[in-house]
Amino acid sequence: MTWTRFTPFEITITKSAMPTKNKIAITGVKPSGTPHIGNYLGAMKPIIDFQKNHQTYIFIADLHSLTTVHNAAELRTNIINVALDFLALGLDPDHTVFFRQSDIHEHSELAWIFGCLTPFGLMERAHAWKDALATGKKDPTVGLFTYPVLMAADILLYNPDIVPVGKDQKQHVEIARDLAEKFNSTFGQTFKLPEPSIPENIASIIGTDGEHKMSKSYNNTIQLFADESTLKKQIMNIKTDSTPVEAPKNPDGDTVFKLYSYLATPVEIATLRDKYLAGGYGYGEAKKLLLTKYLEYFGPARQKRIELAKNLGYLEDVLKSGAQKAKKVASHTMEIVRQKTGLVL
Ligand code: TYM
Repeated sequence: MTWTRFTPFEITITKSAMPTKNKIAITGVKPSGTPHIGNYLGAMKPIIDFQKNHQTYIFIADLHSLTTVHNAAELRTNIINVALDFLALGLDPDHTVFFRQSDIHEHSELAWIFGCLTPFGLMERAHAWKDALATGKKDPTVGLFTYPVLMAADILLYNPDIVPVGKDQKQHVEIARDLAEKFNSTFGQTFKLPEPSIPENIASIIGTDGEHKMSKSYNNTIQLFADESTLKKQIMNIKTDSTPVEAPKNPDGDTVFKLYSYLATPVEIATLRDKYLAGGYGYGEAKKLLLTKYLEYFGPARQKRIELAKNLGYLEDVLKSGAQKAKKVASHTMEIVRQKTGLVL
C-alpha cells in the first residue's frame, strides 16, 4: 500500500494504491478471555466478510485488555487464542492487515493527544464507565475511564470508513467521531468520520443467562472453540422458561432458538419453529440440536485451528508482518498529526 506524502489538509490515500478496495474497515477484539459466539456474530464474522471488498485491518486490542487482565501468562495465552480463532475462522493475512495493538506505539501516542482534547464530561457519560460505577466496581482505574480515547486512536490512525462492531461498542465509535471532529476543528481538517457497522439482526447476542448480553464479564458465554464437553455444559446451562415439555412454546422468546437461528439454514429454522409451536418438544432436545449445529457449523474452523495451533511460529510471522504494514500507515498518520499539533519543529 502506498500513501501520499504528507499533505497539510487531510489524510488521503492515492487512488492508484487501491484500485479495487477503496473503502477501509477496521475492528479490534480484546484478549481479555476466550472469544465467544457473541464476538463472532457481532464483529468477527462481519469483518471477515468485509475482507472480500474492503481493505481490512483487524487487531488484537491487548492494551485495552490490561484494564482487566493483570497476569502476564494469562494475557499471552489469550492473545494467542484470539489470533488462532481469527485465522481459523477465515481471516486471510494476504487480504487483511492483522496485528497486535501494542506493537504499534502510535496508538498510545495518539491516545495521549486525543486525551488532551477530550472533555472530562464526555468520558463520564460513557456507558462502560457509568456501568462500572453503577455496579460498584472496586477502585475503577484511569485506564478504564479513558478506554474510549485509546479506542478512538485505534480507529482514526487507519482512516477507516467503517468500524464493524457489536451494539455495545456503538457509543465508542461515536466518541471516536466526536474526537475526530474536535481534532479537525482545532487543528484543521485531518480525520474523516468513520461509521459503526452493526449487524441489524444481531446487534447484541444474549448470554446463556437469557438476560444480559453475552459477555466474559457476566460469565454467560458459549465459547467458539471450547472442547465438546465444555460446550455441552455451556449450552445445557442456557436458561429457558418453565413451559412443560408437552405445551407449545414461543420460539421468539427463547435463547436456544435464537442462537440456533444464527447458525442454521432457513429450512432448519422453520422446522424447529414448527416443533416449538406444536408442543411435545422440550428445551432439552432443542439444546442438543443446538450443540449438534454448533459443532457442524464450526467443524471446519475447529479442524483448521487444531492445525494452526501446531505451528505458533506461523502465527508470530503473520502478526509480525501485519505489524510492519500497520506501522507504515500509523506512522504516516502520526507524521501529519505531529505537524498539525506543532510537535514537529
Ligand atoms: P470486545 O473484545 O469486548 O468484543 C469484540 C467485539 O465483539 C462484539 N461483541 C458482541 N456483539 C454482539 N453480541 C455480544 N454479546 C457481543 N459481545 C461482544 C463487540 O461489540 C466487539 O465489536 N473495545 C472493544 C475492542 C476494541 C475495538 C477498538 C473495537 C478496542 N479498540 C477499535 C473496534 C475498534 C471491545 O472491548 O471488544
